[in-house]
Amino acid sequence: MQPSLSNDLLLSAASQFGTPLYVYHAEKINEQYKKLTSAFSEIDSRFFYACKALTNINVLRYVRTTGSGIDCSSSNEVHLALKAGFEPENILYTSNGVSFSEIEEVARLGVHVNIDSLSNLDKFGNTFGYTVPVGVRLRPNIMAGGNLKISTGHDKSKFGIPVEQIEEVAALRSKYNLQVRTLHIHTGSDIKDASVFTQGLEVLFRCVHLFPDLKVLDLGGGFKVPYHPSEKETDLNAIAGEIKTVMQRFHRESGRTFQLWFEPGKFMVSNCGVLLTQVNVLKNNGNVVIAGVDTGLNHLIRPMIYDAYHHILNLSNPNGEVKPFMVTGYICETDTFAEDRPLPEIKEGDVLCILNAGAYGFEMSSHYNSRFKPAELLIENEKMKLIRRRETLEDLLDTQIES
Ligand code: LLP
Repeated sequence: MQPSLSNDLLLSAASQFGTPLYVYHAEKINEQYKKLTSAFSEIDSRFFYACKALTNINVLRYVRTTGSGIDCSSSNEVHLALKAGFEPENILYTSNGVSFSEIEEVARLGVHVNIDSLSNLDKFGNTFGYTVPVGVRLRPNIMAGGNLKISTGHDKSKFGIPVEQIEEVAALRSKYNLQVRTLHIHTGSDIKDASVFTQGLEVLFRCVHLFPDLKVLDLGGGFKVPYHPSEKETDLNAIAGEIKTVMQRFHRESGRTFQLWFEPGKFMVSNCGVLLTQVNVLKNNGNVVIAGVDTGLNHLIRPMIYDAYHHILNLSNPNGEVKPFMVTGYICETDTFAEDRPLPEIKEGDVLCILNAGAYGFEMSSHYNSRFKPAELLIENEKMKLIRRRETLEDLLDTQIES
């Protein structure tokens, strides 16, 4: 597995800007977006980048230039999207468990809103009636996603209104004359079995007769990218083909047709980003040599909370003799990036490159151990642009009130 940026360019980024450093490749984001639009070109479809994956404002601005819409999970993400220049009609807001005041705030900004509880749908109806179109997020009772923590559509999940309560949704629609424009599901992230998208559609097809204003079926995100060399990216052409078949069948049966929306996060930005880190210290623990690096679970937590595999390259010695290494972080807690990983021989000072760090990497970072967050760099047309400077002690104290 190789990143889309060359070894030399990444090494030069590390030496110019230091480590730890997140590096994003703009054109790779565009490439991923084009894969989506080309695979679904024969289907009436729209894509909204799920920006919870990575929200640096420069990345959002770049995503906008690709033509993608944007999906936001909080009102703050909506404000960032507006600041990045997205028009409200290209912004979708799909939150869960939020207060109605947040939903009302973004609805008044003119963005598309998906609501995931009967309680908030009731308040929405009471406040807006028919005047503002709304989407309803359903829980389809489908198990999908790379691991349980990122599975969101199963029958014990907190997300969405359980589909068995669809009559209650319909009752609210009638009570307030709600303009239900969208039915939404999101079954999970890192979906391995692509048939869940058509399974999800079948669930939605059973509900659509209750909603005369329905125009959109939103299937959420979850398209897979390879993290491990043995894994494959979601076969978009195959999924698009299956979706087209079931949509055509439904059209023949019911006469109804819908636009499809998707909210890809990982697929758009995961493999556009890497985390560069330098080896601080080597030590032999008796079984394996440990390479201790200048990053940790405070910067990339996926390996620790999901047991996620992230491929690692030794940029400083790509052709070295391959030996097993354990790669660990510098946090005072177990933060193992790789357990017993064959890697070209590592020396202190080498720069390692952790792949698939664009999505849910920087975005889930923290200041644990009072460590600074990494800087971020965007490379476009081989030009490097620092898009987040390194932090200082003042940044750590910035919001604290000293008494
Ligand atoms: N739409 C909704 C409503 C979502 O909740 C999510 C992700 C997406 C779209 C985008 O899913 P994606 O295309 O990125 O799979 N931190 C975890 C992933 C959590 C995803 C949360 N929701 C990870 O690093 O694997």
